[in-house]
Amino acid sequence: MPLVQLTYAEVNVGVQLRWPVYDQSRRLLYKKGAVIENENQLKLLLRLGLYRVEHEEDDAANLINKEINPFASIAELCLRLDNTNTLLLDPSKAKSTEEILDRVQKVVTKLILLTEEDTDATLGAIHLDRDGMYTLLHPIHSALLSYLIAKSLDYAPDRVFSIMSAALTANLGMLEIQDELQSQSKALTEQQRKLIDTHPRRSVEILQKAGVTDKLWLNIVYQHHEKIDGTGYPRKLVGKDILQESKIVSLADRYHALITHRSDRNAMAPTQVLKSLFLEQGKEIDEGIAQLFIKTLGVFPPGAIVSLTNGEIAIVTRRGTDKMKPTVRSVINNKNTPYSRPLLRNTEHDEYKLVGLAPIPKIPMIALMRLWEYD
Ligand SMILES: [Fe+2]
Repeated sequence: MPLVQLTYAEVNVGVQLRWPVYDQSRRLLYKKGAVIENENQLKLLLRLGLYRVEHEEDDAANLINKEINPFASIAELCLRLDNTNTLLLDPSKAKSTEEILDRVQKVVTKLILLTEEDTDATLGAIHLDRDGMYTLLHPIHSALLSYLIAKSLDYAPDRVFSIMSAALTANLGMLEIQDELQSQSKALTEQQRKLIDTHPRRSVEILQKAGVTDKLWLNIVYQHHEKIDGTGYPRKLVGKDILQESKIVSLADRYHALITHRSDRNAMAPTQVLKSLFLEQGKEIDEGIAQLFIKTLGVFPPGAIVSLTNGEIAIVTRRGTDKMKPTVRSVINNKNTPYSRPLLRNTEHDEYKLVGLAPIPKIPMIALMRLWEYD
């Protein structure tokens, strides 16, 4: 059952696909009838290679028909990133520079595809999935968040690749201490402080040694801790001297760090972090980027945990057109007993209106999949 590569003439933006579309490895990317939303996305996908089965009606049933599941995919991508990091840190283990760059590109591509498939579930995973090492989850989640901002700015594919690659690799220079910092409650040692201060340059050096020549990618990594008021590092650059792309990765990095639990402080609720970004915009962080980010995620993004007027605790699963009325599923009743299956609640009804934020419980992966109907 041969695959036929699709050309630009065969796929149109905003028009339903006439066949199921696959990648080179025969994985289903889009079901028949799905719509590719914009020109940049289409160009990006065509460059990566989109395929259909030559005699689709006869053969489609025999192909792998695995839907993209953000929860399982992120776990798999953490493993892939871990392997890629090994090669970036020691390029002699790779067959060639191309192999290393190809691996990074594949992770970026898969991240884009799963976000496109189900942005709300991907956001849910970013906010609630903590099954993994911080050193891997943080770059994966930061790259996903960076993608959402870059997408809303309608950036060209090459620019998106540079941004996401930078988000994935920005902390390579301090990888060895990142997990220990997450669980450390005592003050930083002098050596740790030095490593933190120098990690943007160290990350750039590692990437260059591994064969990365993309100037934008390298510059973003170098600038990802600069702040627009000049209080960042390593060069204390001010807003006009910091690349827009660096501001994107910096915001994604900062947001994800704040929604993650650390031994010296609890994780903040996404709504609280979004509020703090709103208040801080124009000081340390770029105003335009912060506004775009808040607009994209909404006040209660998927994964936010809320209380309802009837006393239930619910999880936001889908953003709605009205920011205050997202789709939610109740997980705990008003007597503090968990439901065996999450219950869909209509937040338009008085009984189920959002009244505020609720504490963040640890939610098992299987329950997350169930919330977004991937079980
Ligand atoms: Fe960093």
